[in-house]
Amino acid sequence: MNIDYKLLMDNAKDASQNSYSPFSRFAVGAAVLASSGKIYKGCNVENSSFGMTICAERCAIFKAVSEGEREILAVAIYSPNSDSCYPCGACRQVMFEFQKDDEEVVVITENLGSLEVKPLSYFLPCGFRI
Ligand code: THU
Repeated sequence: MNIDYKLLMDNAKDASQNSYSPFSRFAVGAAVLASSGKIYKGCNVENSSFGMTICAERCAIFKAVSEGEREILAVAIYSPNSDSCYPCGACRQVMFEFQKDDEEVVVITENLGSLEVKPLSYFLPCGFRI
């Protein structure tokens, strides 16, 4: 599938506006392109019990999977509070779970205004799968 990186990043930026991050004040938005062609948006949602916080990437992926998606093609990540916001280790592993067998998930970030596009294996070599 032809992936519109800018469109995905625009969706991630849009999602970051809904971030609930009163504790860290670090807003994050993510947008996931699923194999159906649909885009799912997510933001980080924090909690007074800090460990209950969910990252934007997992929020978006779980929204996609809960709507019936099983394969993701790309994830864009954006924070208005950081030059380039890379996915945390937990989110990398969750992306790997829903990576198609014959296609690598593409991870899109923005660094000083330009898009960085990298395969998931750059962030997570040798991901775990049963
Ligand atoms: N966060 C994300 O949403 N995604 C990332 O990739 C890194 C961290 C959130 C979690 C928490 O709400 C805040 O950023 C600070 O860690």
